[in-house]
Amino acid sequence: MSPSLCFSFFFLLQFPLISFSKTTPAGARFPSSLITPEKVSASAQNKLYRTKYFTQILDHFNFYPKSYQTFQQRYLINDTFWGGAKNNAPIFVYTGNEGNIEWFAQNTGFLYETAPHFKSLVVFIEHRFYGKSIPYGGKKSVAYSNATTLGYLSSTQALADYASLIIDLKKNLSATESPVVVFGGSYGGMLAAWFRLKYPHIEDTADQPGGLELLRKSFKICKNYISADYLEGWLQTAYTYTAMTDYPTPSNFLSPLPAFPVKKMCEAIDDPTTGNDTFAKLYGAANVYYNYSGTVTCFDLDDNSDPHDLGGWSWQACTEMIMPTSGNNEDSIFPASDWDYKDRASGCKSIFGIEPRPLWITTEFGGHIWKQYYLLQWLKRPLEWWGVLKNISKSIVAIVAKEGAHHVDLRFKSSEDPEWLKDVRKQEIKIIAEWISQYYHDLLNSFDHIYSESSVLCRG
Ligand SMILES: *[C@@H]1O[C@H](CO)[C@@H](O)[C@H](O)[C@H]1NC(C)=O
Ligand SMILES: *[C@@H]1O[C@H](CO)[C@@H](O)[C@H](O)[C@H]1NC(C)=O
Ligand SMILES: *[C@@H]1O[C@H](CO)[C@@H](O)[C@H](O)[C@H]1NC(C)=O
Ligand SMILES: *[C@@H]1O[C@H](CO)[C@@H](O)[C@H](O)[C@H]1NC(C)=O
Ligand SMILES: *[C@@H]1O[C@H](CO)[C@@H](O)[C@H](O)[C@H]1NC(C)=O
Ligand SMILES: *[C@@H]1O[C@H](CO)[C@@H](O)[C@H](O)[C@H]1NC(C)=O
Repeated sequence: MSPSLCFSFFFLLQFPLISFSKTTPAGARFPSSLITPEKVSASAQNKLYRTKYFTQILDHFNFYPKSYQTFQQRYLINDTFWGGAKNNAPIFVYTGNEGNIEWFAQNTGFLYETAPHFKSLVVFIEHRFYGKSIPYGGKKSVAYSNATTLGYLSSTQALADYASLIIDLKKNLSATESPVVVFGGSYGGMLAAWFRLKYPHIEDTADQPGGLELLRKSFKICKNYISADYLEGWLQTAYTYTAMTDYPTPSNFLSPLPAFPVKKMCEAIDDPTTGNDTFAKLYGAANVYYNYSGTVTCFDLDDNSDPHDLGGWSWQACTEMIMPTSGNNEDSIFPASDWDYKDRASGCKSIFGIEPRPLWITTEFGGHIWKQYYLLQWLKRPLEWWGVLKNISKSIVAIVAKEGAHHVDLRFKSSEDPEWLKDVRKQEIKIIAEWISQYYHDLLNSFDHIYSESSVLCRG
């Protein structure tokens, strides 16, 4: 069966580390007071899935007795539409990324909304060290204490978790021949793609890897240039996250925002009534991100709360997720930032006492086809992240949505969705349907399969 790949990166990519880059002094903020559950999920909350825990091995790659420690890994499951093991009905798995899995599950409508069509089981698995899937007895203070414990936080361990859990779940459900389709967005999308590369036997009859990536691009530069050196981190958070979540409908992924928030921000910056008053323009723009609801009485520039449990990303960005980014400020509202590996390395050294391994990820998973390095430019297109822009083969398909935003296609449908988005989802459903029917075809014609097929569908 043909899985697919996607490639783009989650927003925490470099921001937690920004604090030790000379040019960008401040880190990202998570103003928890502003973040309320999505409207759509508020009504559906607790009804979208059941929560389960699986006893997971701490270290999959070491037989030293200490490595036999286990932890409780959380996963969420919805079997309402599942066609059942007898029919080998498909299993759709979201490979969790760096945050609380409930947050992703409540923002990833695509899996539930396509479940009736595919009669699929929907499973969201939480990434180790995030949310409630914390090793060391669930104690974050221990798990995050130093490199001895954080050493178990890696993508390879996470993928091994997913493989173990899926195999066990299929066994428990007597569904060993159900096809598994893996989804992810952002870092979760990378995991989904890598999962297909590393664990193709969880799908057995596949002959080529497949890929499907929605690359979203966003942010038109406002006419008036603003130097954002002042209040930098706070503003940068607002600009960057707004660009990243420049969805075509009102949303509340990181903060409540109107449809096309970048346009709204540009309107604030270009507001003729603010004339040449840069401060007023900055305030107007920040107000879109931090105060769209109009209910915030005071901005707390020191708010470093982390309501979605994203904190472990600093460790990942210090070990294997080394993704250089840089850009100038000639015609961008972003301040110049020069990528400096030494900066990153010395910051990592001082925080965790470790050296990054910048080449490990490409050594482990390859990377040539994705051109994953050096593609992010903050110049003209501040948030065009890494992504697959071309069809790599017949089954590794890239769907490029010029108007897209960070994994917008995975979000819940809305009556205001534009045609292009509906069209992207239709194409994706068609591709998944083709994988599944190819799988059933191969299953009928194959006598030597051990596990059933899985595919990977991931997006940025
Ligand atoms: C599964 O999701 C649907 C929404 O798509 C919801 O109506 C249903 O209650 C959920 N089922 C479970 C078991 O959570
Ligand atoms: C690291 O943290 C663990 C757990 O809190 C602790 O037992 C250990 O002594 C620490 N190691 C170092 C080198 O600080
Ligand atoms: C499968 O069943 C066993 C026995 O009940 C249980 O311990 C395990 O957690 C289950 N696996 C999953 C993935 O839920
Ligand atoms: C803004 O600055 C420009 C150039 O410095 C000047 O030509 C223009 O008159 C100023 N506009 C206002 C409203 O002060
Ligand atoms: C938030 O927006 C409201 C309504 O526009 C405004 O009255 C309030 O002053 C704003 N809050 C801040 C901190 O600027
Ligand atoms: C890749 O192929 C699919 C269908 O074969 C097509 O819809 C899509 O536009 C192609 N993508 C690119 C980037 O050319």
